[in-house]
Amino acid sequence: MRRKLAAGNWKMNGLDENLQEIKTLSEVSNAHDCEVLICPPATLIHSMSRMSNDIAIGGQTCHANTSGAHTGDISAQMLADSGATYVILGHSERRADYNETDADVRAKTKTAWDAGLKVIVCIGESLGEREACNTIDIIGGQLSASVPDNATGENLVIAYEPVWAIGTGLTPTLDQIGEVHDFIRAQLERRFGAGVGRSVRILYGGSMNPKNAADIAQVSNVDGGLVGGASLKAADFSQIITALG
Ligand code: 13P
Repeated sequence: MRRKLAAGNWKMNGLDENLQEIKTLSEVSNAHDCEVLICPPATLIHSMSRMSNDIAIGGQTCHANTSGAHTGDISAQMLADSGATYVILGHSERRADYNETDADVRAKTKTAWDAGLKVIVCIGESLGEREACNTIDIIGGQLSASVPDNATGENLVIAYEPVWAIGTGLTPTLDQIGEVHDFIRAQLERRFGAGVGRSVRILYGGSMNPKNAADIAQVSNVDGGLVGGASLKAADFSQIITALG
């Protein structure tokens, strides 16, 4: 049985004054079986990780190298040292803003695993790719090229985030979500074997909110959500945690 994961990606939002949201989330998290993760900006990881034992904290990216002359970058070891246990890699905003490729994501994932972090690898099609009926091909290609060998149910989470659903208020139909999640599950089982393939959690991300979370959570092979805007306020994210159970 895979434990559901409610993951909040704060993106480039959050100041010291927003740390109080964690106190509320901590109480909600205690009342549910669902694992709760917040990925704040790097500046808040250290403080946040000391506020709650019930909520896991993660980074939003890391460098593929362990250290060195990379001004402005952050290493996986630094994230772990600050109290993070997870890192999001390959988010479509990183792929678009910094030209991150599947090969980059794969290299970063290896480095993050070496630092002991669990990795959420993000994949997803653009609107043009969906309209051209290329979704499954794109997802299959990203999945095989972004995820290194040696994946386990402990060190890997996949997030299916259709690029056109992020921050737009649009979501795929439940059938469309199910089709992609079932495909990802089948690919994981084929590559890593049934044991590992069935234990990796697959999250849905893209305009998930308190209203649609319960329906999305019922879809086959949806093991939780990667939530942007609706994770910023504990009042909203709490309802998503409750919906995920
Ligand atoms: P929204 O929930 O704001 O659409 O963002 C989703 C996302 O990109 C999470 O990583």
